[in-house]
Amino acid sequence: MPRMAGIVACVFLSFVALIDAQAQTAFLEYMQGRMGVLEERISQWHDHSSRYSSELRDFKNQVLKLLENIEKEREGLRNEMENTNVRVDRLEREVDYIETQNPAPPCVEVDEKLTELHYVKKKKKNEKYEKLIGCPTTEVPGTVETDEMLDPSTVRKSYCSDTISQVNAMKILKRFGSTAGLWTKDPIGTSEKVYVFDGAGNDTVYIFNRMKEFTLSPSTRKASKIKLPFPWIGTGHVVYGGNLYYIRQDDEFQLIKFNLANKTVVDSSVLPIEEQVPVYGLSKFNYIDIVADEEGLWAIYATRENEKNICLAKLDSNSLGIEQMWDTPCPIENAESAFVVCGSLYVVYNTKLPSRSRIQCVFDVSGTITSENVPVVYFPKRYGSHSSMKYNPKEKQIYAWDDGYQILYKLTMKPKEELY
Ligand SMILES: *[C@@H]1O[C@H](CO)[C@@H](O)[C@H](O)[C@H]1NC(C)=O
Ligand SMILES: *[C@@H]1O[C@H](CO)[C@@H](O)[C@H](O)[C@H]1NC(C)=O
Repeated sequence: MPRMAGIVACVFLSFVALIDAQAQTAFLEYMQGRMGVLEERISQWHDHSSRYSSELRDFKNQVLKLLENIEKEREGLRNEMENTNVRVDRLEREVDYIETQNPAPPCVEVDEKLTELHYVKKKKKNEKYEKLIGCPTTEVPGTVETDEMLDPSTVRKSYCSDTISQVNAMKILKRFGSTAGLWTKDPIGTSEKVYVFDGAGNDTVYIFNRMKEFTLSPSTRKASKIKLPFPWIGTGHVVYGGNLYYIRQDDEFQLIKFNLANKTVVDSSVLPIEEQVPVYGLSKFNYIDIVADEEGLWAIYATRENEKNICLAKLDSNSLGIEQMWDTPCPIENAESAFVVCGSLYVVYNTKLPSRSRIQCVFDVSGTITSENVPVVYFPKRYGSHSSMKYNPKEKQIYAWDDGYQILYKLTMKPKEELY
């Protein structure tokens, strides 16, 4: 019996061993199969990743090439733009040149001019022109013509006789505030204060003690503020002799004279102008522009009656009364701003899509110069459109507000006589 059992056990064991061996083989085969699959996958991944990296490399190269091309194109465009600018400059210079090369007006015309001048100025000066021009100043015998030409009510004696010959330099000082505004200094006295009016309608004036405080400080913290009793309208204000002259819109437009030292309204008046319309076609917020020149204060305005052209009035800075009024030949359309220098109104024109501003119309209250004999003066390239251009007669420069940039234009002057 035990032998029998021994045999059974032996058979069983070998059976187990057989099964064991078979299972091991199967397991090994299985593992090998799996590993084969894994290896295959790994090699696939490897393939993929190397393909990806080569694709990435290609892509990078393409992008680099594109960037290079773009850079080249940009360079080309920049060159073209520079060329265009040079050409525009040259054209402008040529136009100016052609204008200066216009044949001298015939003597008859000069005589008219001279009689005109004779009326306004001393005879001595006349002799000077005679020499300058080289034409004899034949006296016009009949006075009828002269009288007609020189209605004494329209001719005003000029105290200074300079005209703008060109814009000499431009200086961008700061970017501050909204697109429209005004900044200025008092041309009377020695104050260095800078007055800043942000916006075409507000009531708070910022005052900086000197230019550097305005240009160097990042905010208005350094500024003192004055709150006006009434808000202003437009950008046609002026600081003159310690007073601020500004426009207020109530039922009508009022001119307010406000003393900046004791902060009180000294006087106010409604100018005897009816049915006012915006005075500059491109800056519609201005109905009256008060400006200062060597001779005092002026009002530039427009009325429905004379809808197409700008009007000019001489203001009395003490009484706020109007001394004299003129209809000028300067159109409102496309006018951007204007100022008065030595008794001549200079109107600055631009296009709706801002390009270069230029003085294209001049009206001289003394009748010495007209748009025909004043060459067009261009302003340097800028950002947008001027919402104000304030001439400072003491410094002979213009305080301009250009789309929120505060800019100074320095002017070169020459005597009006040199235009003949
Ligand atoms: C003036 O301008 C300030 C700042 O832009 C604004 O907060 C204020 O309301 C304005 N005031 C008037 C009267 O328009
Ligand atoms: C403020 O100053 C002006 C000019 O000096 C003067 O005419 C006016 O009377 C003064 N007003 C007050 C309230 O002191």
